[in-house]
Amino acid sequence: MNASSPSPAQNQASPATLYGGVTNRRVTVRDLAAAKQRGEKWSMLTAYDALTAGVFDEAGIPVLLVGDSAGNCHLGYETTVPVTMDQMVMLSAAVVRGTRRAMVVADLPFGSYQESPAQAMHNAARLMKEAGVGAVKLEGGERSARSIELLTEAGVPVMAHIGLTPQSVHALGGYPVQGRGDEAAHQLLRDAKAVQQAGAFSVVLEAVPAELAKQVTEQLAIPTVGIGGGPDTDAQVLVWTDMAGMTAGRVPKFVKQYANLRAVLGDAARAYAEDVRAGTFPAAEHSFH
Ligand code: KIV
Repeated sequence: MNASSPSPAQNQASPATLYGGVTNRRVTVRDLAAAKQRGEKWSMLTAYDALTAGVFDEAGIPVLLVGDSAGNCHLGYETTVPVTMDQMVMLSAAVVRGTRRAMVVADLPFGSYQESPAQAMHNAARLMKEAGVGAVKLEGGERSARSIELLTEAGVPVMAHIGLTPQSVHALGGYPVQGRGDEAAHQLLRDAKAVQQAGAFSVVLEAVPAELAKQVTEQLAIPTVGIGGGPDTDAQVLVWTDMAGMTAGRVPKFVKQYANLRAVLGDAARAYAEDVRAGTFPAAEHSFH
């Protein structure tokens, strides 16, 4: 080992970069804290199955979220509300099996943690023991602080989620931008500080004005992960089906579409059907003799 190469101990604690950095183990909460220290921005994508998760893992995405957005992006529901613990365990286990390097964070779905910190602990333990995830995410700021405290004391890394919280879609009457106006902005700051104080290792800021997300990011020691929070958060997250153009219909303003997978897959399916109809598939090279 020469003077410039890290010792094994240093390599354990902080890879040179999160993106394309350490490859011999999973990304940890310490790596994310170190990234904030050195000002490195990182990306998170959702994933709901082993195959897609494997693609993102190989691409070097350091954190994969098994979001309860699986409800509307994978399971065919209209919202995240119907998603169950059993579904989250099954999807999360698949994402863990399909990856080697990414930290896998799983959402606690609606109704699986709001009753009490004990309920949150019971279900977080299921995601860790049965699916093997490295962390859980739950919605709510001050209102979820007691649960975050119990989970982190028990050794469960918690990513908090404030601003627009999609599990409250029926109470909010849709998906409006949050934190507009003085009182709402102050509440968002209180929520951010409450989850940090309770022990969360990072916090998602969804659909909040960019200036407010910047202010929160500057005031917190833990990394902020923006989705519709402008360019100044420490990390960004997108729902993979939005990012890759699989989503049917309109996507939110904050989405940038990096591919048009829906068109690519549709073209492939039509070409296959046409070959079968014309008798050109299977050809000789696809046949056994
Ligand atoms: O469920 C999800 O995908 C999420 C992201 C939008 C942050 O919570």
